[in-house]
Amino acid sequence: MKNIIDQIYNTSEATGDELLRLLNNVDEESTAYLHLRAHEKRLSVYGNKVFMRGLIEFTNYCKSNCMYCGIRRDNKNADRYRLDTETILKCCREGHELGYRTFVLQGGEDPFYTDEDIVTLVKAIKSNHPDCAITLSIGEKSKESYRRYKDAGADRYLLRHETNTKTLYEKLHPDMSYEARIRCLQDLKEIGFQVGAGFMVGLPGQGNEDYVKDLLFLKKLQPHMVGIGPFIPQQDTPLAGANSGTLETTCIMLSLVRLLLPKVLLPATTALGSLDPKGRERGLQAGGNVVMPNLSPTNVRDKYLLYDGKICTGDEAAHCRGCIERRIQSVGFEVDMSRGDHVDRLTQK
Ligand code: 5AD
Ligand code: FES
Repeated sequence: MKNIIDQIYNTSEATGDELLRLLNNVDEESTAYLHLRAHEKRLSVYGNKVFMRGLIEFTNYCKSNCMYCGIRRDNKNADRYRLDTETILKCCREGHELGYRTFVLQGGEDPFYTDEDIVTLVKAIKSNHPDCAITLSIGEKSKESYRRYKDAGADRYLLRHETNTKTLYEKLHPDMSYEARIRCLQDLKEIGFQVGAGFMVGLPGQGNEDYVKDLLFLKKLQPHMVGIGPFIPQQDTPLAGANSGTLETTCIMLSLVRLLLPKVLLPATTALGSLDPKGRERGLQAGGNVVMPNLSPTNVRDKYLLYDGKICTGDEAAHCRGCIERRIQSVGFEVDMSRGDHVDRLTQK
């Protein structure tokens, strides 16, 4: 397997057949080699820096009904909340004092917030903190809406594609369409956002053929960011009884994405840290170079429960800031509190 890994390292290219052969045959030794090569690649592009993003989960209302997700519309046990503008601005102020220069506003697909509300919010954060980048993660919208957010000053947009296998996508997302998802990602790119796509690992029925599709899709889309985390069941969803994705497979995917898209911003996700106490550290060692600690107010943190066992639900923002720094340093990396733009966008402020 070493020759395939070296080839991807050297060319950032792989065919579907090569990726499938690799995934079907990796053993402990080749996995270690893959992580090592991914680590070298991240060092050559971003050095040993890990970029920090302050995550604000501002609403857990959702009009969608994704089978895996704890805040799906049909979950009557979800304790719903919305943060008002003042509270969100306060989270940003606190985050700014802790050193954060990127704020990620994430929420369920909540029609309560109009485009005008989002525009007002983005403008207010930008005017309070002109040195900060704003990332939105609020789901599928029209191209026109995305354009308005961009014009208001939003810099980046996260919209995971979740899985690039159409049949699986449609099974998991009743009343959503795979084509619409891909269209949104294309729209976001055309508008000029730094765009994040990504997928879950270990979904029921998902296998190596599916991961190959995800990897080839990402290679083609060329997103600036890729979010990859293990699927973890949530007790009040139809997938409550399913198995979680594994740390091992998730880290293999992180390494492959690092080799296929060397410049990508790649978080070691909270889901990975929730699956395993050392999950985020392992994700960084596999090629990850971003972490997204939570800045949401403590009184709502335990309500944004996409999956069971989520970490940091009882912790203050300042606690997470210190905790994550120690974790990053424990595996030999260095915290970088700058905006942390994609290398191709460093001149664009
Ligand atoms: N397990 C892991 N990740 C999940 N997400 C949603 N539900 C789960 C779950 N049960 C992920 C989706 C979404 C992101 C915000 O969280 O990939 O895009
Ligand atoms: Fe929140 Fe460790 S990052 S407690």
